Order: sequence, then C-alpha cells, then structure tokens
Amino acid sequence: MEKEIRRLTFDDYDEIMRVWAVSGLPIKSNGRDSRDMVAAEIAREWCAYFGLFVNDKMVGVTITQFDGRRGWINRLAVDPDYRGMGLAGDLMAKCDEFLDQFGEVVPCALIEGENMPSMACFEKAGYVCERSISYWTKRPRPDL
Ligand SMILES: CC(C)(COP(=O)(O)OP(=O)(O)OC[C@H]1O[C@@H](n2cnc3c(N)ncnc32)[C@H](O)[C@@H]1OP(=O)(O)O)[C@@H](O)C(=O)NCCC(=O)NCCS
Repeated sequence: MEKEIRRLTFDDYDEIMRVWAVSGLPIKSNGRDSRDMVAAEIAREWCAYFGLFVNDKMVGVTITQFDGRRGWINRLAVDPDYRGMGLAGDLMAKCDEFLDQFGEVVPCALIEGENMPSMACFEKAGYVCERSISYWTKRPRPDL
C-alpha cells in the first residue's frame, strides 16, 4: 500500500467534498464549504488542507490552522473503506508538524455530540476533553 500525505490546493476541491461526503460529514455547500469560501481559505498560508492518498486515491482529509493563539484541527475524515488503519492518526501527526512552525501551540478540536470514534481518535493522539466548555457561535446566516 503506497501512502502519501500532501497539502491540497483548490484543484482538489471536488475530491475533498467526495471524501467528506462518503465519510458522512455534512457539507455546507452554500456556506463554509462553497467553492468561493474554500478557494479563499485553502490559499491562506496559516491554513492547510491535507489529503491522505492511498495508491494515489484520496481517502482522508483534514484542515488545520493557526488562529494566532491556538491551533485547530477541523473536518478530519477518513473514507469508511480505509478506517482502522491509523490514517486519521497520520493526518493528525501531519497537522502537529504544520502547527510546529508557529511555536508552542495548543492544538484543539471541536467534536460533535457523542462521536465516539472521533473522541477515541483524539484521545489516542493525546487530546483531553475539556468538558466544562460549551461551543458558542454568532451566525450571520444559518447555512454559513
Ligand atoms: C474519526 C475518524 C476520522 C477516524 O479515522 P480512522 O482512520 O479510522 O482512525 P485511526 O485508524 O487513525 O484510529 C486512531 C485511533 O482512534 C481510535 N478509534 C478510531 N476509530 C474508532 C472506533 N470506531 N471505535 C473506537 N476507537 C476508534 C482508536 O484508538 C484508534 O487507534 P487504534 O486502532 O490503535 O486503537 C473516522 O472514523 C471518520 O472519518 N469518521 C467520520 C467523520 C468524523 O466524524 N470526523 C470527526 C470530525 S471531529
């Protein structure tokens, strides 16, 4: 099995959406996952989309970014046919490597509801759940 992780560009947009869709992640096609918004986000130097390829097929994706204070891992997803092989762990390690350039950074992630595989995955990578914190947003529009 030939495995490679590389930083993605906007040319990978359709494949990114395909991997998120088969992985069961909701896609905000009129909001943050629209072509325009992804084109802007993926071009920022402090924000990286990483794709994991097995035999040249994209089977995993994640986004990582430094917000000036913390590091974030968002939208980590692995194609169901390739789960349980440590690929999410590989992507998270790549995110750590990317965030290292910004100095001592605390990597964080938001995990919805009771997403056990995701929680287990982050736990395995050394993350601890801060249960006293709730997630607050102020949305300019509901589908953003
Ligand atoms: C969460 C997800 C990315 C994990 O991908 P993966 O490639 O299967 O994960 P890995 O093989 O790297 O697993 C790493 C560790 O996570 C834990 N883990 C992963 N899936 C698990 C599961 N279904 N049940 C229990 N533990 C699990 C294990 O500890 C595993 O290490 P181990 O196999 O050595 O025990 C994948 O299940 C997925 O794409 N889910 C849908 C999308 C999603 O919810 N993303 C999270 C958004 S925050």
